[in-house]
Amino acid sequence: MCYMARHLLGLVLTLSGHKIMLTTIIYRSHLCDNVAVKSLEGMVASANLKNGMADVTGILLFNGTHFFQLLEGPEDQVKAIYRTICEDKRHYNVVELLCDYAPARRFGKVGMEIFDLREHDRDEVLQTILDKGTSRYQLTWNDRALQFFRTFVEATEKENYFEIPPADSWEFIPTGSARHADPQLAFKDADCGFAFQPIIDPLSQEIVSVEALVRTAGGGSPKEYFDRLSGDELYQADLDSKKVAFALAKDLGLSEQTLAINLLPMTLVNIPDASHKLLQMIEQNGLVPEQVIVEFTENEVISQFSAFTQSVRDLKASGISVSIDHFGAGYAGLQLLARFQPDRIKISQELIRDVHKSGPRQAIIQALIKCCASLEIAVSVVGVEKAEEWMWLESAGIFHFQGHLFAEPCFCGVPAVAWPEKKTAL
Ligand SMILES: Cc1cc2nc3c(=O)[nH]c(=O)nc-3n(C[C@H](O)[C@H](O)[C@H](O)COP(=O)(O)O)c2cc1C
Repeated sequence: MCYMARHLLGLVLTLSGHKIMLTTIIYRSHLCDNVAVKSLEGMVASANLKNGMADVTGILLFNGTHFFQLLEGPEDQVKAIYRTICEDKRHYNVVELLCDYAPARRFGKVGMEIFDLREHDRDEVLQTILDKGTSRYQLTWNDRALQFFRTFVEATEKENYFEIPPADSWEFIPTGSARHADPQLAFKDADCGFAFQPIIDPLSQEIVSVEALVRTAGGGSPKEYFDRLSGDELYQADLDSKKVAFALAKDLGLSEQTLAINLLPMTLVNIPDASHKLLQMIEQNGLVPEQVIVEFTENEVISQFSAFTQSVRDLKASGISVSIDHFGAGYAGLQLLARFQPDRIKISQELIRDVHKSGPRQAIIQALIKCCASLEIAVSVVGVEKAEEWMWLESAGIFHFQGHLFAEPCFCGVPAVAWPEKKTAL
């Protein structure tokens, strides 16, 4: 069956009553140094056949270093081919730029065609690409997919292509061992415990701060701890628990360390004199307010905004700094920054997960970094689990990290940190 007939069929085909969605994926990647450009011809020929059989069409641009490919076709087939492409060892740093749906194919003539930008005059390239279009309506640059072509051909985003090395070029080996608090002290009169997790600057091998994360007295999750509390009991318990956090911090030898604690914004509002009580706890444990960061989560803050800003005034006046935790996981992050500027934001794990593979996440994080730099707000990220995530974020200009890649929270103790060590070539 010829391509056009196959595509028409693809568009109207229904499978178990579901219309097959015409899906577009665009990615860019980097050719591996050890791959000869000549060898790409064979790869393209077999890809063309495979795409044809899967009813997938598209176009591949190559500029001598980077690939840029658009794949179009039924969703399952496009995604299956994209998964194999991501695993291909001939290229690396594969970043998905767009995954979208369209009414018609843009490049429906061939399974896959390669277009070497070095063989064409730059001014003609974009017109030539447009001429290859098979859309029923003439291709226009209003189309997001085509805008990505223009950006690639004109290389306007090139400074944002971070060429991160493979994950296994680093080793993460814990240095030293965890320190634990005296169990007698940890549980004395307490109905809760704390796990500590460092926020680190991996390349300068520095612990920037240590966060105290609430647990039940037996080490159970924060949810377990909070589920047992109700109404105002919740806020009183939230405040009182910080006594345990500071006492543990003192026993763990964190007196010289910046210490992050979490507070519900309504604790400061509902408990009379809460800031003053917090200051007393800090002093009783030989700590100073300037070394304490109070972290609030975005959702809680925005729903009670004016009460929140009122209570923060007292904290700031005493020398305590303020951070917004899990930034980007809530629903009003940017609006929040317009109305209130904390000393630090901690970007949510939801936003940084697999950031090295995702164009949208990269764009959002770069914009956040730029925004926070203009406002002199420090930026750190939480929930870093993969070496590639860390490398991409370092390249983007983030230097403070918290996550299992470096150290898991340690109950009533401070974990050893696995600092990254570059593997030396044998
Ligand atoms: C930049 C680049 C683009 C590719 N595009 C396609 C493609 O459109 N379709 C395809 O089947 N394979 C494509 N491949 C090859 C696949 O990654 C993979 O090697 C191939 O599907 C495996 O086929 P085989 O198991 O039959 O050898 C591409 C590879 C690279 C490096």
